[in-house]
Amino acid sequence: MTVTAHSITPEFKAQWQTLQLHFEQVKSQSMRDLFANDASRSARFSLDVDGFFLDYSKNIITQETLDHLLKLAELAGLDKKRNALLTGETVNITEQRCALHTALRAPQSASITIDGKNVVPEIQQTLAKMKQLVEQLEAGKVLGFTGKPIKQVLSLGIGGSYLGPKIMSQALKHYQNEMDVHFVANIDGHHIHQVLDKLDPEQTLVITSSKSFSTQETLQNSLVAKQWLRDAGASQDDIGKHFVAVSSNIDAAVQFGIKQENIFPMWDWVGGRYSVWSAIGLPLAIAIGFENFSQMLAGGNAMDDHFATAPLSQNMPVIMALMGVWYINFFGAQSHLLLPYHHDLRGFPAYIQQLDMESNGKTVQQDGNDTFAETGPIIWGGEGTNGQHAFHQLMHQGSPLIPSDFILAIEPTHSSQDLHNALASNCFAQSQALMMGKTLAEAKSELSEKGLDSSEIERLAPHKVMQGNKPSNTLLMNALTPYNLGRLIALYEHKVFCQGVIWNINSFDQWGVELGKTMSTDILNTIEGADNTDTANHQYDSSTTQLIKRFSSPS
Ligand code: F6P
Repeated sequence: MTVTAHSITPEFKAQWQTLQLHFEQVKSQSMRDLFANDASRSARFSLDVDGFFLDYSKNIITQETLDHLLKLAELAGLDKKRNALLTGETVNITEQRCALHTALRAPQSASITIDGKNVVPEIQQTLAKMKQLVEQLEAGKVLGFTGKPIKQVLSLGIGGSYLGPKIMSQALKHYQNEMDVHFVANIDGHHIHQVLDKLDPEQTLVITSSKSFSTQETLQNSLVAKQWLRDAGASQDDIGKHFVAVSSNIDAAVQFGIKQENIFPMWDWVGGRYSVWSAIGLPLAIAIGFENFSQMLAGGNAMDDHFATAPLSQNMPVIMALMGVWYINFFGAQSHLLLPYHHDLRGFPAYIQQLDMESNGKTVQQDGNDTFAETGPIIWGGEGTNGQHAFHQLMHQGSPLIPSDFILAIEPTHSSQDLHNALASNCFAQSQALMMGKTLAEAKSELSEKGLDSSEIERLAPHKVMQGNKPSNTLLMNALTPYNLGRLIALYEHKVFCQGVIWNINSFDQWGVELGKTMSTDILNTIEGADNTDTANHQYDSSTTQLIKRFSSPS
């Protein structure tokens, strides 16, 4: 069923105005006071979903705020639109597609139809094909052109065809097996050449992952890899032993020279940034084993069930989405900070950057009108505790309001509990310090206790003040397992979806990436053209012209 473009309703607009009035009443509300006046605050503003715990009490909200935000979600038709997403309706209206990444992690018994056809069987067939390859590789049964077993993998892809498998392999480092899996994305030759130097062509499987099979970076890198194999002595026929592809464009993959039986299908109703659950996750499954990959799917499915069934007020993705709307649209926050206090999640902010910014970095509503308010924020972040020694200064004493998500696993996968206790202490202390701040009186008192004289105290104290009232969420999981990683990713997918519903935008297309691609083709042709200075044929601006000329004829 096609979801038609729709406009926001008068009731929604009225609720938005109600929230604006409410914001004026609470914008200066001190979280210190909110905690001091309500001993049950943290319990009231927390959610525990089978051990996956969200503490959202360190937000500048009262129960009235939350009620208003939930009402807004209701008036945005979130219930109905959530159902449309999960049942395969055409939610991506500019490409006339559904967005059924949730089907990729549904159990075998599920029935999810697109145009009347249950897609679960073909998904399961692809998973079985992935499982077979993973197990053959683990058993050393996949042989290269000289008869050696394949032990290394070169995964070529970019955007969602890179970030998912790469970052989730890193996140699940503890679960990695003997397979030596490497990832290359950039067309910058520094990347692929540095990686090829580490690989043995006789024992390397190349996985070309590209939904469109037309992405310049991935195709160029695949040609380099193909030549690398040929230079090592592989014949054209041998190439088939060393290449597999993941794509929805089977013809193009065959055209490139990849055997049909070595192509893992994906579907146009899976967006790149939502595709790690599909065969795009093949390198990840090879790196951690298929059982662990299945566990990640199961975690994603568990979060889907929670998202599908929990009342909005108890719904973790909905709550996180509404906290974001509150700061972006009423406090004017421009960015959102992700602080994984886990070294293996150091890439997680980069993953969510594509998920969030490519989904909601838009200013046109479903009905083609300009958006009525700010939309997707700048997503950034870094692993804790490193950020405390880099950008946390701005968080504590800078001018922008930057809501943040702290993420911590209670159990480490290493043996140094003392280090983990210190990590957790820092994580909790940072959100506490951001919330509490330090008043001028407290700064003066501290300096006085250090014995400074009054003039020094007067001079220094203002520099020690921290505004406080800086909001954060804290997500706690028992351990960073494949299952919990699956829940974490799905949580953010659904958070992004809910925000897109509130803003009435299409979170599933990405037309904004097209212009740059087109222009780069033009400029490449100019640079590689006969006469580099021949820019007369192109109406480039003078800046682009001079840059091309300087690049083409370095002084
Ligand atoms: O950045 C645009 C984009 O289409 C992403 O959405 C996608 O993940 C990436 O490029 C790679 O696309 P493909 O998998 O088709 O090579």
